[in-house]
Amino acid sequence: MASGSRIFPRNFRKEYPVAVRGDGCWIISSDGRRFLDAAGQAAVVNIGHGVAEIGRAMAEQSSQIAFAHTSQFHSAPAEKLAARLLQLAPANFQNGGRVYFTSGGSEATETAIKLARQYHLECGQPQRYGVISRRQSYHGSTLGAMSVSGNVARRAPYQPLLAEWGHVSECFAYHHAGSLKGEDYGLACANDLDKFLRDSHGNSSAAFIFEPVVGATLGAALPSPGYIERVAEICRGNKILLIADEIMSGMGRTARPFAIQHWNMEPDMILVGKGIASGYAPLGAVLVSARTVEAFERGSGIFQHGFTYQAHPVCTAAGNAVLDYLKGHKLFERVGPISKTLRADLEPLRSHPNVGDIRGMGLLIGIEFVKDKGSREPFPQSENIAERIRQAALEENVLTYPTQGCVDGLRGDHILLAPPFSLNAEESARIARAIQSALAKVFPS
Ligand SMILES: Cc1ncc(COP(=O)(O)O)c(C=O)c1O
Repeated sequence: MASGSRIFPRNFRKEYPVAVRGDGCWIISSDGRRFLDAAGQAAVVNIGHGVAEIGRAMAEQSSQIAFAHTSQFHSAPAEKLAARLLQLAPANFQNGGRVYFTSGGSEATETAIKLARQYHLECGQPQRYGVISRRQSYHGSTLGAMSVSGNVARRAPYQPLLAEWGHVSECFAYHHAGSLKGEDYGLACANDLDKFLRDSHGNSSAAFIFEPVVGATLGAALPSPGYIERVAEICRGNKILLIADEIMSGMGRTARPFAIQHWNMEPDMILVGKGIASGYAPLGAVLVSARTVEAFERGSGIFQHGFTYQAHPVCTAAGNAVLDYLKGHKLFERVGPISKTLRADLEPLRSHPNVGDIRGMGLLIGIEFVKDKGSREPFPQSENIAERIRQAALEENVLTYPTQGCVDGLRGDHILLAPPFSLNAEESARIARAIQSALAKVFPS
């Protein structure tokens, strides 16, 4: 690792270059090397790096009022951003919806878990507390968020510390549909939630949380037809809240403000993070539907929760500036066309014998590597394929996001691509060439 570093690193065995400057889709390190950020770091940097006006907006807010505690004050940038986010959300968030701002995604998940619990207390259902989630999912690294996450590797060391409220089937047709096709598989996965509720947990569950497009854990896996609609029906029927974790898939990444809008779903809460401030400030949020808010307004009127830095004026000013930039540069509209370009550039990779699948939506794209294309058999975990692809692409100065475990928590290799929306055609072609070159290095013929 970098000599003399006093930062507690994520990995003591890894070298970390020092990032000194950003420029659109590029990160420049202290030794002058330029990296093409094909993963937007971790699906964070939606507007691109180095946009000076975001910093100016933050400095301006900071010079006016940098901090006022939310137990005593609200702030103008937080009010403005809340109203703008709700406008982007489905109809059930209009006329009475509210936004709870946090400092990132995991805090948003924690907040949603507690909101769900207290919602039922407010509704006179004190026996409801469990938040059901899915296997092969990720909702954050704090203990509540980790409890609802199904990511095997990330949970493993902390298993004894985690609450167990139940994990039901993920919806991942590429590996698990078996003989079921399309909607039959989608409905079978959704009905696993129904079965879980009917079998034992119908009265104690408070909510169901899921990623509409599964990000890091499954590499941009889409729900099968019928799944989303059926899940919404089951939650309503069982009187549990439905939480869409859009921390990775939201804020325009799939070419709609929120991925659930591709299916017209109306969840009770939407979690956002990452792209909301595009990496310029630590920011997350829980969008809370009007019906859910009403229970608090009519009930105790007090949500027993809070973070010192929630709804931070400077961070929410960054969020507003990012939305202004997205609007001013028509970047929401750009996701559809530029993702088509990137998908077309990646398409030739499909014929490679070890590229099993290229999937995703908008600028959230997963590429999965398999040992055998016919049987979709994954590589043994020990071959470390995803990380080796990352390293080989890095030799071409292209940054990707590798993960192992998409098949069963241990085996299965994919990389995630989630570049800034400002990606251009030349950069798109460069990403495809780097992955082509990585394939040639990792799988020499
Ligand atoms: C879907 C999803 N939920 C939650 C989180 C946690 O967000 P954060 O890392 O900002 O705490 C992530 C982060 O990768 C995520 O992808």
